[in-house]
Amino acid sequence: MITWGCQMNVYDSGRMADVLAPLGYTPTATPDDADMIILNTCHIRDKAAEKVFSELGRLRVVQEARKAEGHRTILAVAGCVAQAEGAEILARAPFVDIVLGPQTYHRLPEMVARATRAAGAVIETDFPTEDKFDHLPNAAAPQGLTAFLTIQEGCDKFCSFCVVPYTRGAETSRSEATVIAEARRLVAQGSREITLLGQNVNAWHGLDENGQPSTLGQLARKLAGIEGLERIRYTTSHPRDMDDDLIAAHGDLPALMPFLHLPVQSGSDRMLAAMNRKHTAAEYLHLVERLRAARPDLALSSDFIVGHPGETEADFEATLDLIRTVKYASAFSFKYSPRPGTPAAGLPPIADDIADRRLQTLQALLRDQTTEFNDSKSGQTVDVLFTHVGRQPGQIGGRTPWLQPVHVLGPESLIGQIVPVHIAQARPSSLYGTLLEERACA
Ligand code: SAH
Ligand code: SF4
Ligand code: F3S
Repeated sequence: MITWGCQMNVYDSGRMADVLAPLGYTPTATPDDADMIILNTCHIRDKAAEKVFSELGRLRVVQEARKAEGHRTILAVAGCVAQAEGAEILARAPFVDIVLGPQTYHRLPEMVARATRAAGAVIETDFPTEDKFDHLPNAAAPQGLTAFLTIQEGCDKFCSFCVVPYTRGAETSRSEATVIAEARRLVAQGSREITLLGQNVNAWHGLDENGQPSTLGQLARKLAGIEGLERIRYTTSHPRDMDDDLIAAHGDLPALMPFLHLPVQSGSDRMLAAMNRKHTAAEYLHLVERLRAARPDLALSSDFIVGHPGETEADFEATLDLIRTVKYASAFSFKYSPRPGTPAAGLPPIADDIADRRLQTLQALLRDQTTEFNDSKSGQTVDVLFTHVGRQPGQIGGRTPWLQPVHVLGPESLIGQIVPVHIAQARPSSLYGTLLEERACA
């Protein structure tokens, strides 16, 4: 399984492995050993999509080499490129056996059976009427100390630049009961932290036990009651769907981590309108104020697009201004990439060198803010969930509540625990700390 794209694809790859496990498939580390290769793909930017075709070229060589040794290798393309360009994949890469969209992978066993029996490719990229979550196995491989749990899928927002509403379909929410059951299972399997996932996760409105649409704030409150679940996160949120109850939950629930990915894309009202984001910069800033009032140590991250059609220097300056006002802990930023079928794709593009320069300016500012945020933890004591052995001898690694990686010298027995750590040194991409005295001696 080769996975690109967002965390939802990571979750889907895990679930595809769960679906295939009863057929006898287990994950392998290299394609050379694989009876089946699944590419779980991303269509968000041109580069992401093109990667699929170059990888397929390489895998064809593996497929042929294995064939020469008498082995069949089933090649499947899943995910958002499969959904958007299924027919083109089969035209450009006829050696692909299965093309399946993100909403059909519960049918994989049947697709594998058909691909094994028949000549010619199997393609399943409709949006089925049945909900895949109702057909996924209850049994699942453990994810480890930190786990992903998809609770919402799809998007009804139709931002001018974005393929997701076309690749993932309309917004749907899993019911509260199924989400809670899956969370309990993950905790029983050893997970201490769960990140709730959705393309618009805060638009989650799953049905509660009375058959009424619930809210993410309510769900977070219920999940916080699960014994052993220490940390709850959710991503990605749309500013429009951030309701009072969810903001209040940030103040009420210590388990709800004080780090929120809240993409704004641009700080210019003109661009926000062109992007169909349906909020202004001032509304976003007000939302940030309310969140910080509820949870003063809340840190924020965002996504930004520079060079959207029509973006002027003044629009770009407005984005820099918004960034200076918010002060982000981290952020992702991208040069606008025209995507076939999206409204913005038909508009005249802005010059490439201008977009490149703006991206560099923006990224330099965001880098400074990340450094500043990391520096602000220096000298402080912060809780770290230790998750793994570090690269240096005697080192263990984990994350702060704000998702910063932390390295300390300490015993492996602390892995799985949340432990206070004195931050001695902040670097741009991670923190270095020491265990508090009593812990170190214990
Ligand atoms: N649902 C999330 C984001 C999903 S896509 C949201 O609403 O914010 C992740 C990020 O990719 C987006 O936030 C956006 O910044 C970026 N992105 C999406 N389409 C893009 C495009 N055509 N060109 C460049 N970046 C894009
Ligand atoms: Fe894409 Fe906009 Fe939907 Fe996010 S809200 S997934 S950016 S269309
Ligand atoms: Fe990419 Fe699809 Fe996720 S386009 S970002 S894998 S929803």
